[in-house]
Amino acid sequence: MEGLRSLFDAEYYEKCGPWNPDSPYGYSPADVHVLAANSLGIIGHVGFQRRLIDVGSIEVPVGGTGGVLVASRARGTGLGTLLMRRVREAMHTAGVDFGYLGCREDVAPFYESCWWQRIRTRARCFSRLDGTTVIESTDTPILICSAAKPVASWPSGPIDLRGTPW
Ligand SMILES: CC(C)(COP(=O)(O)OP(=O)(O)OC[C@H]1O[C@@H](n2cnc3c(N)ncnc32)[C@H](O)[C@@H]1OP(=O)(O)O)[C@@H](O)C(=O)NCCC(=O)NCCS
Repeated sequence: MEGLRSLFDAEYYEKCGPWNPDSPYGYSPADVHVLAANSLGIIGHVGFQRRLIDVGSIEVPVGGTGGVLVASRARGTGLGTLLMRRVREAMHTAGVDFGYLGCREDVAPFYESCWWQRIRTRARCFSRLDGTTVIESTDTPILICSAAKPVASWPSGPIDLRGTPW
């Protein structure tokens, strides 16, 4: 746990305060963690949480993905891509149908280069800032990947995350 804390605090402490594994910066916590480490410690992380979300009128089991971070000294060498591949394998093992994530516009090309696919629809969730305010968005990038099911079978319709995002 201390290695993960160092990784997150090095990146976000100044702007967001200390990392809290139970509510990382107000986001939902991961229940599966994929880590990369070298002799100096943990240098990369991707996490996901299993959750049933609503898509249109259908309940969909997803791996809500977050905490995607490679230590600044290790970026640009393919580690992020490798972690995204491994997290997909872990989702398959965990038995969820799809991976799901929301991100900033500028980082969406990274996920697309890892074979995640962007979808465009309305999404609602609770705010990570207070956990209760309902946020509806149409323009935040949403990306999905196949786990137990192919991306082509993602149902149509608006998304309700039934909680805070990851
Ligand atoms: C995003 C991040 C995880 C990528 O890790 P990485 O190990 O540097 O990624 P890779 O070396 O596997 O890069 C794969 C491809 O994505 C591109 N890419 C990497 N970081 C990117 C970024 N921040 N925005 C857009 N594209 C990016 C690379 O140029 C590369 O493309 P190429 O193969 O055409 O050269 C890393 O930059 C990071 O930790 N950033 C800070 C935290 C962050 O923003 N996380 C995402 C939160 S949603």
